[in-house]
Amino acid sequence: MRLLPVGTTLFVVLTLGACSPSAPEVPVGADGRTDPVLVQGRDLYQANCVQCHGSGGGGGRGPQLNGGTVAASYPDTAAQIELVTNGKGAMPAFGGRLEPAEIEAVVRYTREVLAENG
Ligand code: HEC
Repeated sequence: MRLLPVGTTLFVVLTLGACSPSAPEVPVGADGRTDPVLVQGRDLYQANCVQCHGSGGGGGRGPQLNGGTVAASYPDTAAQIELVTNGKGAMPAFGGRLEPAEIEAVVRYTREVLAENG
């Protein structure tokens, strides 16, 4: 048996890794730092929302959340927090699963990071 060169194996592993969808990273702010609340929001989005709204917020079972659509439908952040807390139709209520601060973090992530995507 001929062994594949290490470089080829590494390439295959990295290429496959890049295929697994992952929510957009939080960009570095003007002060040179990433907002830790947005980083927490990204983790929460990845764990709770991607299966219906897509890793990039492009939608699927649930509506699209990227490209500024959410801020257009919910100009008031409080109304969006209420929707995620209480649910609507096939959108589950997260009030019993996430802390209010976590809901605020994931909502900020959708408005401030996903909105810029797509
Ligand atoms: C089981 C699938 C599912 C999951 C998981 C889910 N959603 Fe939804 N979401 C939906 C559906 C379906 C709707 C549309 C509800 C309606 O209008 O009847 C929706 C609507 C929304 C809306 C309103 C969008 C608009 O333009 O009206 C927001 C914001 C939202 N979801 C955020 C989230 C967040 C944040 C999470 C994770 C914490 C999440 N969703 C998890 C299915 C899901």
